[in-house]
Amino acid sequence: MSVPQTTFHDGKSIPQLGFGVWQVENEQATPAVAKALEVGYRHIDTAAIYGNEEGVGKAIAESGIARDELFITTKLWNDAHKAADARQAIETSLEKLGLDHVDLYLIHWPATVKYGDAYIEAWNAMQEFKAEGLATSIGVSNFHEMHLARLEGETPVIDQVELHPTFQQQELRRVLDDRDIVTEAWSPLGQNKDLGHEVISRIAAEHGVTPAQVIIRWHLQLGNVVIPKSVTPERIASNFDVFGFELTGDQMAAIAGVDEGNRLGGNPETADF
Ligand SMILES: NC(=O)c1ccc[n+]([C@@H]2O[C@H](COP(=O)([O-])OP(=O)(O)OC[C@H]3O[C@@H](n4cnc5c(N)ncnc54)[C@H](OP(=O)(O)O)[C@@H]3O)[C@@H](O)[C@H]2O)c1
Repeated sequence: MSVPQTTFHDGKSIPQLGFGVWQVENEQATPAVAKALEVGYRHIDTAAIYGNEEGVGKAIAESGIARDELFITTKLWNDAHKAADARQAIETSLEKLGLDHVDLYLIHWPATVKYGDAYIEAWNAMQEFKAEGLATSIGVSNFHEMHLARLEGETPVIDQVELHPTFQQQELRRVLDDRDIVTEAWSPLGQNKDLGHEVISRIAAEHGVTPAQVIIRWHLQLGNVVIPKSVTPERIASNFDVFGFELTGDQMAAIAGVDEGNRLGGNPETADF
């Protein structure tokens, strides 16, 4: 079954299920992405700071898959928010990926503690990159309402934020819905820590599927774009095999009840990197 597409307010669309490569070494990224493409993923999520854009690009080039069938995201790191630095950053990312454009370019963090309001300058630069065709769509990551409110010009198409069963971001999801910004979930499995939750295990047993498949299904049914990471070939395949079952309303409600405000990564308002 093909992956559903989520439509952005700019008219473009993104495969709702993608493949994340944070904490994947450059050399490891090539076989991991190759496996992902082989099992059917067409959406890959990387970032300049992950240090693996070359490895990702190599897998893309070797796959022989037509460019217009792929959806590639990368991200602008915090130290490059000034316009000239941002331009250098996207050019370097494109060169490493071996691409002439990305489908989605994100500001990785607002990074206000270290760089003040430079992210506003970065957003203006991103709009130029879009106009020039270097990025088809532009968005943000780790932005709260206070950061979104200060952007000028276009509205980001997506906000990629930490989101998993024990950290559900209900308030931020409402803010994004109200602004027609798609919610994308990072660390969607809770970096594997949510997989052992008893509610998840029970539902997995009810369907005869893995806990990871339950969580990915939950994201899809909530309407999130979701980008699980794995370097394990069987997991890369099984995480994609989530279109043969559906969670019931009761099961969705049970998972809604496991939220514990369990943030694993940085808080965008206080992160000092
Ligand atoms: N924008 C941001 O600031 C930001 C921050 C963090 C992440 N992200 C993005 O989100 C992606 C996903 O998040 P994440 O990498 O932090 O964590 P995640 O996808 O929630 O979890 C990955 C972990 O779960 C394990 N795993 C994956 N599938 C599994 C399965 N079926 N059964 C058991 N364990 C499984 C992986 O192990 P193995 O790899 O060993 O199989 C890995 O340890 C990243 O790769 C990145 O693209 C973005």
